[in-house]
Amino acid sequence: MKILEKEVLSDYQGTRVVRMKVFAPHVAAKARPGQFVTLMVSEEGERIPLTIVERDSECIKIIFQEAGLTTKLLGKLNIGDSLYAIAGPLGHPTEIKNYGKVIIVGGGVGIAEIYPVARAFKEAGNHVTTILGARTKGLLILEKELKGVSNEIHVLTDDGSYSRKGFTTDALDELLSKDKYGMVYSVGPIPMMKRVAQVTKKYGTFTIVSLNAIMVDATGMCGCCRVTVDGKTKFSCVDGPEFPAQAVDWDELTKRNRVYEQKEKHLCNLNKIL
Ligand SMILES: Cc1cc2nc3c(=O)[nH]c(=O)nc-3n(C[C@H](O)[C@H](O)[C@H](O)COP(=O)(O)OP(=O)(O)OC[C@H]3O[C@@H](n4cnc5c(N)ncnc54)[C@H](O)[C@@H]3O)c2cc1C
Ligand code: FES
Repeated sequence: MKILEKEVLSDYQGTRVVRMKVFAPHVAAKARPGQFVTLMVSEEGERIPLTIVERDSECIKIIFQEAGLTTKLLGKLNIGDSLYAIAGPLGHPTEIKNYGKVIIVGGGVGIAEIYPVARAFKEAGNHVTTILGARTKGLLILEKELKGVSNEIHVLTDDGSYSRKGFTTDALDELLSKDKYGMVYSVGPIPMMKRVAQVTKKYGTFTIVSLNAIMVDATGMCGCCRVTVDGKTKFSCVDGPEFPAQAVDWDELTKRNRVYEQKEKHLCNLNKIL
């Protein structure tokens, strides 16, 4: 599982987003849009889930934000280095069909995750409108690539440093108020996906989100990625990661994803470990 290519897509105030091409024929052979891998950087490390952004017959591409210990360790690897392990493809693939007109909404590093889905919807004959959002210009990724697979694109930054100032859901609300769309697909921070669900509910538009619940084993055994959907318990790793947006218990998911946030001590030690 050798790293064949490495590229820093953005580096904003020390937060990097990195794209890597990794030799993983066992995953590449079967991967479909919407699926993910879990990988281990070293034998002693934890496994983390990352979306399969692209694939060819032998390799996959992943894009990750250096958010904490494992993604920072991954970012330290270079071309020629090898990962300890990759398991996948995992999760249900996206149901790709012709809905007519679709809107794809990506926020932050979620933009990496919408790319394979936007491309597949376009190839299936849909009219694809893509909405991209980032906190600031320096954090925006894959604009050119998504332009290439979209009929229409809207880019927004929270601080107005690039393109239009505002949130993805502002553009979504405007589009839905003017036209009918067959479905909306969204990946991004939980508050954004929650708001997407609220906006599309207003217009009765079918909406799918890909959830970033915290995962441990990613095989349905530990229960860490538990989410409530339509009042029923689901495991994101084996039942998802995609679910109907309006059926997700967003407040519970928000609480569960914050479980490891209070770790100032750990963060203080991070630089020493690295
Ligand atoms: C199905 C799936 C696909 C994903 N695809 C991508 C992707 O393509 N690119 C990408 O950059 N990230 C993706 N993520 C999120 C990624 O797994 C986390 O950023 C990573 O596990 C953080 O590990 P860490 O050790 O670097 O950070 P930690 O030190 O473990 O955490 C750093 C911060 O990230 C948060 N975090 C930890 N785990 C997750 C998680 N699973 N989801 C969201 N936030 C988390 C923590 O609460 C903390 O605030 C995906 C998550 C899932 C569940
Ligand atoms: S990550 Fe353990 S059940 Fe999903």
